[in-house]
Amino acid sequence: MSNINLEKLPKHIAIIMDGNGRWAKKRALNRIYGHENGIDSVREVVRTSREIGISYLTLYAFSEENWKRPKHEVDALMNLLKSFLKNELDEMLENGIRFQTIGRSGKLPEDVQRLLSDTSDKTSQNKDMVLNLALSYGGRQEILDAFQKIFMRVESRVLRPEEITEQTISDSLYTTGIPDPDLLIRTSGEYRISNFLLWQIAYTEIYITPTLWPDFRKEEYLAAIKEFQKRERRFGASEAE
Ligand code: FPP
Repeated sequence: MSNINLEKLPKHIAIIMDGNGRWAKKRALNRIYGHENGIDSVREVVRTSREIGISYLTLYAFSEENWKRPKHEVDALMNLLKSFLKNELDEMLENGIRFQTIGRSGKLPEDVQRLLSDTSDKTSQNKDMVLNLALSYGGRQEILDAFQKIFMRVESRVLRPEEITEQTISDSLYTTGIPDPDLLIRTSGEYRISNFLLWQIAYTEIYITPTLWPDFRKEEYLAAIKEFQKRERRFGASEAE
């Protein structure tokens, strides 16, 4: 498939999907159209990931900071999320995709929460790929929540402070059980992390493209993976002799 080395795939790809608003603005359309077209990119990236054999895909669909957007935009994003979940359930079931979320989902509207847990439950036995949506997600909030969990274990004497390791922290994050991302993609040309997976991306390769999210489709997704495959990952060690 377009020269992708299937032996050297990233196991976990995380994506900051940015530029929906600018995509709409360029066409003198309402921002909501940008989000609607962004859904087609989501669908294409999920399908392609499954086709080539990516094990984990994490998409930044709604950040903690996104709550500050006007109510009509937040409502539109929630409605898009609901129709995405309803429309994609069959395909997730057919393709062995397990759905899950990370973030403070308790802040989401109740009908969205119900649909999210329904989708997670119905797909929980699927084993071929994990589609992980970050919703009401913030990296610092995630670390803060982990800190509180760990502190409670220390307070109840289940854990001694000197026993806390990096693994204890990783295991206390929302991403428990998911390996750290190998590749982080950000669209729309911003050189920022925007509070995404702060702990988990310590050694992640980063690919930034000027393409706006609604235009980010299969071809460029595969190009990002190919670029990843050219890089030499050293995890802080020196070059191999
Ligand atoms: C950034 O565009 C994108 C988001 C706010 C989140 C991404 C949301 C989608 C792709 C649609 C919903 C997703 C799912 C999975 C149902 P922006 O509005 O910040 O763009 P701008 O920076 O150009 O204004």
